[in-house]
Amino acid sequence: MAPYPENFAHTLTACLRLSGTTTFFLSTKDCIAMNSSANLNIPEYVKHQRVKAWVAEIAALTQPDRIVWADGSQEEYDRLCAEMVASGTFIKLNPEKRKNCFLARSDPSDVARVEDRTFICSAKEEDAGPTNNWMAPQKMRETLNGLFEGSMRGRTMYVVPFSMGPLGSPIAHIGIEITDSPYVVVNMRIMTRMGRAVFDILGTDGAFVPCIHSVGAPLTPGEKDSPWPCNPTIKYIVHYPETREIWSYGSGYGGNALLGKKCFALRIASTMAHEEGWLAEHMLILGVESPTGEKTYVAGAFPSACGKTNFAMLIPPKAFNGWKVTMVGDDIAWIKPGKDGRFYAINPEAGCFGVAPNTSEKTNYNATAMLTENVIFTNVALTDDGDIWWEGMTKETPAHLIDWTGKDWTPEIARETGRKAAHPNSRFTVKADQCPSIDPRWEDPNGVPISAFLFGGRRATTIPLVYQAFNWNYGVYMAATLGSETTAAAFGVQGVVRRDPFAMLPFCGYHMGDYFNHWLNISNKVEFAPKFFYVNWFRTNEKGEFMWPGFGENMRVLRWIVDRARNRISAKETPLGWMPRYQDLNWTDLDIGEAAFDALTEVDIEAWKVELSEHKEWFDKLGEKMPKQLKLKRDLFEIRVNESKSTD
Ligand code: GTP
Ligand code: SPV
Ligand code: MN
Repeated sequence: MAPYPENFAHTLTACLRLSGTTTFFLSTKDCIAMNSSANLNIPEYVKHQRVKAWVAEIAALTQPDRIVWADGSQEEYDRLCAEMVASGTFIKLNPEKRKNCFLARSDPSDVARVEDRTFICSAKEEDAGPTNNWMAPQKMRETLNGLFEGSMRGRTMYVVPFSMGPLGSPIAHIGIEITDSPYVVVNMRIMTRMGRAVFDILGTDGAFVPCIHSVGAPLTPGEKDSPWPCNPTIKYIVHYPETREIWSYGSGYGGNALLGKKCFALRIASTMAHEEGWLAEHMLILGVESPTGEKTYVAGAFPSACGKTNFAMLIPPKAFNGWKVTMVGDDIAWIKPGKDGRFYAINPEAGCFGVAPNTSEKTNYNATAMLTENVIFTNVALTDDGDIWWEGMTKETPAHLIDWTGKDWTPEIARETGRKAAHPNSRFTVKADQCPSIDPRWEDPNGVPISAFLFGGRRATTIPLVYQAFNWNYGVYMAATLGSETTAAAFGVQGVVRRDPFAMLPFCGYHMGDYFNHWLNISNKVEFAPKFFYVNWFRTNEKGEFMWPGFGENMRVLRWIVDRARNRISAKETPLGWMPRYQDLNWTDLDIGEAAFDALTEVDIEAWKVELSEHKEWFDKLGEKMPKQLKLKRDLFEIRVNESKSTD
């Protein structure tokens, strides 16, 4: 039975209909006045009229059984986790192996972000651009109003206040997510600064981004809930950039449902950044400390599942005794020009939502050290002793597991059917400060100064191990043409190069051509512009094996990048940009000779001719708003390549 009068929803809906607009705050004020706020369970610490009206509004639309305002406390987290254990959404892991850890298994139809169901509903289609799905806002609102009407029936509606960026810092932005998923509430507590303190900052009229989320699976009275409710057929991840709103329907997974992450901190924030003169990027942030204590921060954009988390938590090999790498963030960076002429970056998130498969003590020791307590695992396998496992975690494969779909799994079954124990996009959610290499300044509200931007995807051929752009604008070109080969797991087809400019293709909230222009222009705001580097850890030999050992060994390249960013080492000029010579990298303890290095850094002119024709196609696709300057850069680049010979 709803705690507010039965006709309450109808009254509100009537008010809304009466107002006939989507800017409903004024009309609902009257409705609130007509109804006691106790019905909405509004805590006394919430003093913000617009928030109250909005929550009433969404409650009236979605018709939940109960409303709970998340306070962000440990007690609340523990209670929700216990409730989810009771309902079958969570499995409590063996506390001797994983203290205070839980496993969730999603519906097999709900395992990743849904890019084809993601929309940027700007007033004008041309503002969303050719790389985003678009629908007219009014039409989308009608569709969504239909879907959200009664979508929370039989469920609890949670009001989840959160801050992206340290609470109260001048660069932070506040959001409030309304959701009918307790899984989302506990994940948001890890991924953001979440809870009642946010209302102290909001006060009576502070700005917030309204984020509305429903799994889209209302319950009829007496109907048994499923462990992972979602809508198997209808999903919408919708952004209204002008009014800065997010509406998400039908999915409970990752970036579809944890709306602070990709929806707010990238899609909405990128439009804010465009207007206000800063950058919201899909970038890791790390610090490199030399043996003398000199600190250099770099930010890196690699497409999804291309190694940001691993690189952000890198542990230098022995040959780099005395060097330290520290993590500021592993997925998102907000970057602003500082008063001293440098760019400063903050990590707006408070946790990591990292890819589980292939995370091992060897590939990412720091991540494994983070995962011993207070972790939510999603879609990994369960061992017989109540621990978790995934492909690439240990050398030996357990003889028996329960796989991510809840079925028995053995190595024999895997051989016969090809079934994976953990889903390839299975993830862990964990507080960032559980990382042993967390940077002491990771919560500095002023951010950390950035000396270099790195870009890199999965490229089996063509892209050398590392090269540096000649200048800012050419760096923007490099990032604008960033590509990554698709994996069968994520795209169904293997090995097709998908352009993913700045690793932002699914995350840029406005026209990609305007975004490139913004990057070209913003260099004018800083005196000490970071240098641009392209890296590729994924080049393969004729046998299809990775030529570069990767992971901790990436330190060898990172050190060169730091030295280049500080202008203290010379380099070789190539048609692509500046490259290290063999003797420029530290090879201690690594068996890579000059011939292997040449193969890793080869500029294959024939391959580059093809690459450049693909750049042309890509730029043409972006249409009128594509900056002429970048098109011209491509033509000059082509001349450079045509005049050179392959290096090998
Ligand atoms: P999102 O969270 O999806 O944005 O991705 P991410 O960029 O943080 O990806 P993550 O670091 O989780 O990448 C995971 C995948 O990249 C795993 O399959 C790793 O094995 C692989 N990977 C990471 N670093 C390296 C590397 O240096 N070399 C190779 N060969 N693979 C790597
Ligand atoms: C990505 O896909 O880039 C992620 C995971 O970081 S999600 O939060 O689901 O978007
Ligand atoms: Mn990501």
